[in-house]
Order: sequence, then structure tokens, then C-alpha cells
Amino acid sequence: MSARILLAYATRNGSTAEIAQVIGRELTNNGHAVDVTDIKMVSTLAGYSAIIIGGPLYMGSVDGAVERFVGNNREQLLKLPVAAFVVGLAPKNPDPGAVEAAMAAMRKSLGPVTPVSSVLFAGKLDPSKVNFVMRKFLEMAKIPAGDFRDWDAIAAWAQELPVKMGFTPAPKD
Ligand SMILES: Cc1cc2nc3c(=O)[nH]c(=O)nc-3n(C[C@H](O)[C@H](O)[C@H](O)COP(=O)(O)O)c2cc1C
Repeated sequence: MSARILLAYATRNGSTAEIAQVIGRELTNNGHAVDVTDIKMVSTLAGYSAIIIGGPLYMGSVDGAVERFVGNNREQLLKLPVAAFVVGLAPKNPDPGAVEAAMAAMRKSLGPVTPVSSVLFAGKLDPSKVNFVMRKFLEMAKIPAGDFRDWDAIAAWAQELPVKMGFTPAPKD
């Protein structure tokens, strides 16, 4: 094993959690020890060599659990390699500023932490799970419904992470 990695994710409707599991599986398959944990359940970062933080975008911001996690673990996070992903429908939004706004929201949620790698993944939106008011907001924000998660892109990002986090590649059998 070359590293013990914590992947702490926030989720409201489960799609970010599923992305987190795929990233965790990819890293495990490449010989790394990974704990994939709901961000609200993380009590300590002790024993981890690197942290991956993931969270979904809602109403222009990353889920607040991410910012709270960063605030609560600021000192340790500043000493460790951190990678971050956010999940949203911004990549499917025809507004040319949507992706940059999503990346800005990610930077804001990470505060003083500069990730070694950060990415925006297209997520999943089931309109039957949102109320009438939210549906109107989504229409106005031109956020489409559907499952847009690109599992190949997610796996490819996970494969690049260990080297970006400063770990030597795991030996091949
Ligand atoms: C009410 C609502 C607001 C949303 N706002 C945004 C947004 O501002 N930007 C964005 O890119 N995606 C937005 N989305 C899309 C979610 O980020 C997407 O559905 C994501 O996959 C949800 O992750 P989760 O299933 O882990 O909660 C919104 C979705 C809903 C239901």
C-alpha cells in the first residue's frame, strides 16, 4: 500500500456519493487504501496521507458541509495533499459562464486550501425529487434533467490522482 487516502463527500440526493464510490474503487484497484466516508461522519484526519473532498452544487454554492469540513480541519488540510471534485449540472448549462461560476463556488468552499487537482463533474438530476418552486428555479437557471455522469472521465481523474498527490505509482503485479 502506498498511501491511506480519505475521500470525504457531501451529497443530498446520492449522485455525488455514487461518484465517490467509483473514485474510491478506482484507487483501491490501483493498490491504494481508501476510506470513502460521508463528510459529516469524519471525526479525524489522523493517519491519512491525502484527502479527496467532493460535494454537489446547489443554488450556485457547493453543499455547506464542505465549507464546514474545511473550516474544522483547516490546519491538517493545509499540510496534506488535497484533491477536490464538485458535481453539478453546470456543464450542461448553455450559459457560457456556468462552468466558471461552478469552479468559483468550489474555490470558495475550499477557502485557504489549494487542491493539487480539482474538477467539475456533470451530475444527475431527477426532477421528480424536487418541489414546484425548485423546478421553476431549475428551469430559469436552464439546468436540465437527466443523468449526465461520465463514468470514464470520473475513473480517468481518479487514476491520475495518486501521482498528483505525490505518491509513487503502485507496483504492477
Ligand atoms: C434545487 C437544485 C439546485 C441546483 N443548483 C445547481 C447549481 O446551482 N449549479 C449546478 O451546477 N447544479 C445544480 N444542481 C444540480 C445538482 O448539483 C446535481 O443534481 C447533483 O448531481 C446533485 O448531487 P447529489 O445527488 O449528490 O445531491 C441543482 C439541483 C437542484 C435539485
